Amino acid sequence: MHLILLGPPGTGKGTQAKLIAEKLNAAHIATGDLFREAVRQGTELGKQVGAYMERGELVPDELTIATLLERMRQPDAREGAIFDGFPRTLQQARALDEALAGHGMAADLALLIDAPDDEIVRRLSGRWLCPACGRIFHEVSQPPKQEQLCDGCGGELMQRDDDKPEVVRKRLEQQRPPEELLAHYRKQGKLVEIDGAQEVEAVTRDLLAAIEKTTVVS
Ligand code: AP5
Repeated sequence: MHLILLGPPGTGKGTQAKLIAEKLNAAHIATGDLFREAVRQGTELGKQVGAYMERGELVPDELTIATLLERMRQPDAREGAIFDGFPRTLQQARALDEALAGHGMAADLALLIDAPDDEIVRRLSGRWLCPACGRIFHEVSQPPKQEQLCDGCGGELMQRDDDKPEVVRKRLEQQRPPEELLAHYRKQGKLVEIDGAQEVEAVTRDLLAAIEKTTVVS
C-alpha cells in the first residue's frame, strides 16, 4: 500500500507513521527526517535545506521532490510506503502521482491528521527525539523510561531546533496543508480526516480502521 499522512506540524504524523509502517511492514518515508539527517551529516543537500528548516519555511519543491524520488528508489520502498510530511504542495502531489503511475501504482489513501493549535504547541514544546533511531517522545504524554535516554536504542535524546516557540508559530502559519492539496485527494475520493487530538492509541485505531476499509473496498 501507499499511504500519505498529511497534517499541520506536530499533529502526530511521525509517531503514527512509525507505528503503522511497523504494523504493515512498509517503508516509512519522511522528508523531514531525510532533511535532518542531511543537515546532521553536513551534506550538500543539508547545506541547501538547513536555512529553510531553521526559519520554519518549506524547502523548495524541486529539492524536496528530488529527495523523495531518490528515497523511493531504495529497495525497501518498492512494495509500499507510508509518506510522512510529503506531499505538502500540489506540485509535490503531482510528482508523487507520476512516480507511482510509472510503476503502475497509485496512492491508496491520504489521511489528514489534525489537532487544535494549543495542543500542537503543547506537543512540540515537550517533544524529544532520538537522533540515532528516530523514535519520538513527549515529556508528559510519551515520556522515555529513563530521562533523556531512548527506550529503543539507549541513545541520548535531543530537542529539534525548529521546535523553538517562534519557529513553531511560523510553521503553524505557513505549513498547514493548502486547500488545493486537500482538494486533489478529495477529488480522487482518497482523503480521510482523522481526529489527531485523541490519545496516540485512539489515533492509531482510527487510522488502521480507515486503511482496513480501503483494503476491503478495493
Ligand atoms: P517535518 O519533520 O515533516 O515536520 P512537521 O511536518 O512540522 O511535523 P513534525 O515532525 O513537527 O510533527 P509530527 O506531525 O510528525 O508530530 P510528532 O509525531 O513528532 O518537517 C520539518 C521541516 O522540513 C519543515 O519545516 C520543512 O522545512 C522541511 N520539510 C519537510 N518535508 C517537506 C516537504 N514535503 N516540503 C517542503 N519542506 C519540507 O508528534 C509531536 C509531539 O507530540 C511528540 O512529542 C509526540 O510524542 C507527541 N504526540 C504525538 N501524538 C500524540 C497524541 N496523540 N497525544 C499526545 N501527544 C502526542
